[in-house]
Amino acid sequence: MRVISLTASALAPVSLASAALYNQVIDTAYGPVQGIPAFSSQPHTNISNWVEITDCLNLNVWTSANSTQEKCPVMIWSYPAGGSAAQPLFDGADMAAKGMVYLNAEMLETVGHNVSGNWAMLGQFAILNRVHENIGAFGGDPERITVAGQSAGSAATYHMLNSPLTKGLIKGAIIESGVRYPRDPLCSALAENYRNMSTALATGETLMSYFNTSSIADLRALLTAQLNAYSGSGGPANPVPVLTGNTRDESGAELPINITLAQYKTDLETRYGSIYAAKFLEAFPAANDSSAAAGEAFNAHYAATSRVGTYSFAEGRNAAPATLEVSIYTYFWTHTPPGQDRGAYRESEINYVLNNLYGTDSPYWANFVKNQDPNVGKSVGVEWKPTTGGEEVVMQLEDGFGEMGIATEGQVGLFREWIVPYSI
Ligand SMILES: *[C@@H]1O[C@H](CO)[C@@H](O)[C@H](O)[C@H]1NC(C)=O
Ligand SMILES: *[C@@H]1O[C@H](CO)[C@@H](O)[C@H](O)[C@H]1NC(C)=O
Ligand SMILES: *[C@@H]1O[C@H](CO)[C@@H](O)[C@H](O)[C@H]1NC(C)=O
Ligand SMILES: *[C@@H]1O[C@H](CO)[C@@H](O)[C@H](O)[C@H]1NC(C)=O
Ligand SMILES: *[C@@H]1O[C@H](CO)[C@@H](O)[C@H](O)[C@H]1NC(C)=O
Ligand SMILES: *[C@@H]1O[C@H](CO)[C@@H](O)[C@H](O)[C@H]1NC(C)=O
Ligand SMILES: *[C@@H]1O[C@H](CO)[C@@H](O)[C@H](O)[C@H]1NC(C)=O
Repeated sequence: MRVISLTASALAPVSLASAALYNQVIDTAYGPVQGIPAFSSQPHTNISNWVEITDCLNLNVWTSANSTQEKCPVMIWSYPAGGSAAQPLFDGADMAAKGMVYLNAEMLETVGHNVSGNWAMLGQFAILNRVHENIGAFGGDPERITVAGQSAGSAATYHMLNSPLTKGLIKGAIIESGVRYPRDPLCSALAENYRNMSTALATGETLMSYFNTSSIADLRALLTAQLNAYSGSGGPANPVPVLTGNTRDESGAELPINITLAQYKTDLETRYGSIYAAKFLEAFPAANDSSAAAGEAFNAHYAATSRVGTYSFAEGRNAAPATLEVSIYTYFWTHTPPGQDRGAYRESEINYVLNNLYGTDSPYWANFVKNQDPNVGKSVGVEWKPTTGGEEVVMQLEDGFGEMGIATEGQVGLFREWIVPYSI
């Protein structure tokens, strides 16, 4: 039997938790394992915790199941680049306390080499397959697996959602900071490490021939729905509900910020070229010549980029035949955690949505994992409507909880003109 141990990563206990399951030896396809007690911030809940070690793929497993027969919904969390499974930020005890089995997965991307992302993705798919085969022994339901992740973890999640290699294995996906719309100019920068030039050219030729196109302009004019259909299998492998969004002060927007008006203008020129920089400056004007005004306009522009991009992604996915009837829920996280000056910074939602803080209880993620709908389960107060291609709104989470427009009509029009110059 393996000796299983874990660093004491949990938060200070309200109650020492223990449960029937960690006292048992659990048989997995890779040998027997035994858990340890873990702590939850919620009293009276007994959680079991394992590190399940298979070759080089590491998983932490938290479960509040009281027997292996329980069939709890399962959430697999892929954390961002630079993270580690032992970080309290990704602790799973409180999601387990909500009646699910929670796992966090090491990302091989984090090794720091410019290798093809595919090896890491094959590792990620292997994790999903192993969870599917073994999670029943931990009281989890292999037919109710939700994959979730943030930043690099969100990319991993996105690939698990779409790859034919994971077809049929997942019930829902949570993608935090986040999806990028295929025509977002940031995509080319983010994708630079994927392939060398000869591979990229060969892929381009295959795509052009698949879509019967003869120019880059034709390729750009393809709808997201058509791109989604390009997997050789006739559509996204897992047409399941998706929950996705951004935080306010990330992906360009930053706090604290101290820039001049000239720096703001230069940033717009670098991003859009001079003609469109002028249009974006008009759409996101600085109130006056002060650096405070320049910073506000700079951040407003980048925050709108996130919202329009996320919404456009959702709209595009909704337009694919296989996902027409499948709900996508979009959010914009605006809560500023206390005691710091970075606003609603990247990763600031994680502690809240995973319920790793005392005195807060965000139901959205737990509801989604259990029911594939953030509204079903513990009440969220205001209905979180899925994106339908109608009203251009995202859900503002925490501060002024409710719907907010993705941007003004004029701003959205300009983004559409720039990002979607051909059609949608
Ligand atoms: C949790 O574990 C403790 C210690 O084993 C036990 O006394 C208690 O009854 C358990 N609580 C529940 C709700 O099962
Ligand atoms: C395990 O038993 C405890 C005590 O009855 C209960 O509170 C908890 O919800 C059970 N766990 C699950 C996953 O049902
Ligand atoms: C990876 O590639 C980027 C872009 O080409 C380069 O800046 C970086 O130094 C490379 N990192 C490693 C570890 O090779
Ligand atoms: C580019 O990558 C492909 C696939 O890994 C490889 O077969 C090929 O040799 C590489 N070409 C160059 C010029 O490095
Ligand atoms: C490309 O053209 C061929 C031959 O006309 C057709 O069978 C195929 O469906 C077309 N592909 C797409 C993606 O439109
Ligand atoms: C903003 O930057 C300028 C130029 O670097 C500096 O003089 C000024 O003190 C900074 N203001 C604040 C509030 O940090
Ligand atoms: C300039 O704009 C900033 C940011 O909106 C505002 O705080 C400040 O009061 C404005 N100054 C003047 C003189 O209007």
